[in-house]
Amino acid sequence: MTVRTVLRMGEPLLLEKALPIVAFDTPELHALIEDMQDTMQAMDGAGIAAPQIGVSLQVVIFGVGQNPRYPDAEQVPYTVLINPTLTPVGDEIEEGWEGCLSVPGMRGLVPRYERLHYAGFDQFGNTIDRLVSGFHARVVQHECDHLNGILYPMRIADLSQFGYTDIIFPGQDIPDD
Ligand code: NI
Repeated sequence: MTVRTVLRMGEPLLLEKALPIVAFDTPELHALIEDMQDTMQAMDGAGIAAPQIGVSLQVVIFGVGQNPRYPDAEQVPYTVLINPTLTPVGDEIEEGWEGCLSVPGMRGLVPRYERLHYAGFDQFGNTIDRLVSGFHARVVQHECDHLNGILYPMRIADLSQFGYTDIIFPGQDIPDD
């Protein structure tokens, strides 16, 4: 088990475009994903992207069971997604509160496509192809943004809707990051 240090906003690597994975089912790829899993679980995240642990490759993992960070959120199946492509379905935009392990202690209201199609591969090279909506669609957009050097504060439409978690949601037992 290796919990890696999560890079925080301001780190130049978080602004880079990540490179695609060219070889699947390798020891290096499995080790990377294991470290991402361990780190995400230790920090109680809904997802994590490889650049957040300092690896500029197109790998994200996400999944939400019963997560205290998002107590009212719908569940999202645990997914390893590599070399993803996202295609919005329709033009409906929905705003929702987001946090990020790279922006600890804060929340912002972020507009995202309500529905989208995403495709890519798992760590073995199997194809992933899904049509999703709501919170699942939000999580995928947030994580895949990391692969393009975009952090959620860069998406906030109204910066008055960005602040410290314990101020915006006083008295709620939401983890720090
Ligand atoms: Ni994030």
